[in-house]
Amino acid sequence: GKDIVPQAPEDPMFGLMAAYRRDTAEMKIDLGIGAYRDNNGKPWILPVVKQADELLRKDPNLNHEYLPIAGLPDFTSASQKLVFGKDSPVVTEKRVVSFQTISGTGALHIGALFLSKFYNRSASEAPAIYMSNPTWANHNQVFGNVNIPTKQYPYFSRETCSLDFDGMINTIKSAPAGSIVLLHACAHNPTGVDPTQEQWKQIASVMKEHHLFPFFDTAYQGFASGSLAKDGWAINYFVEQGFELLVAQSYAKNFGLYGERAGCFHFVTSPASNAQDTVARVGSQLAILQRSEISNPPAYGARIASLVLNDPKLFAQWEEDLRTMSGRIIEMRKALRGKLEELKTPGTWHHITDQIGMFSFTGLDERQVGELREKYHVYMTKNGRISMAGLNTGNVEYFADAVDAVVRE
Ligand code: LMR
Repeated sequence: GKDIVPQAPEDPMFGLMAAYRRDTAEMKIDLGIGAYRDNNGKPWILPVVKQADELLRKDPNLNHEYLPIAGLPDFTSASQKLVFGKDSPVVTEKRVVSFQTISGTGALHIGALFLSKFYNRSASEAPAIYMSNPTWANHNQVFGNVNIPTKQYPYFSRETCSLDFDGMINTIKSAPAGSIVLLHACAHNPTGVDPTQEQWKQIASVMKEHHLFPFFDTAYQGFASGSLAKDGWAINYFVEQGFELLVAQSYAKNFGLYGERAGCFHFVTSPASNAQDTVARVGSQLAILQRSEISNPPAYGARIASLVLNDPKLFAQWEEDLRTMSGRIIEMRKALRGKLEELKTPGTWHHITDQIGMFSFTGLDERQVGELREKYHVYMTKNGRISMAGLNTGNVEYFADAVDAVVRE
């Protein structure tokens, strides 16, 4: 009858991870979930995180008490500075309120929940959120779960393996006033393709003209340009243009704190005489949402990040660790492209080094992805995305040979 709970499909990303673990082949490669691996294919605890962890463990005042509802104050204030810059007017003018969250997903969720309750309630139709096609698969569920209608804007051209800027800007232009637009701050997941600064300026100008509301997802700050500040450029350009906006920030990738679930949600309001009052009212509602959803956030990951973000020496070490990760990924991009070109694998492969961040959108189709898995024990998402961090000097040739074989079939 209609009361029966229907069977849902397994989560594609975690399903892939489980399938890889079950595979008993001696040579297998995990290019699925976006988690950094060292050159031996092993998870990497950032040296700065190890250092912070040791310092924390020595602290005689450390205990397991609850954090405040909004999270660890030193963590949320440092997170604001990381995203907006320490001299940013949103910080000095107190135009931002921030809540520590269950990593990026939790930040997206509390933002989505807040929008579903308080955003444009007088509109005759619930405003939709526009997201890039493709985007991180979880974006659809997070907004769908709170009944925000989801729509798409074109983003990626399969022909050129690069940004479909015209498609993107034209769809955004045609969105009804008041619509929300989800934007990846840098290192777009899954494509590894970002707008240029010139293109961001056009996006901002169109969004301003059409009264659209920006929601930024920043999960890869430190992985795109090699500079934390530059990776935050797009968000800060929008801030300078006077937008009211939301930011979901994750520390999973850039601190390697995946399972610790450290993240932050920021609400920024426009410069106005009642800005501080707006921030206070929004903050009061966020506190109720947070309390009912998770009561208060988990402490450990936030303590680690906070220690590093607030100490200049540790911060410098963190930047070094980020360069280690992004540097190895860049080396693997070069190695993979070089090998495929050497093999004269049909197609063009320059996009592998053109794309940035943790992922490459290879252009491989579902059949090829399926064969890579069946015949070669290579695990990647159906859309042809690979996590570059799964490649290393020990398996990149094997992978290139496997790609060459399935492309020629
Ligand atoms: C990814 O896209 O692989 C990561 O963001 C991990 C996840 O949760 O899907």
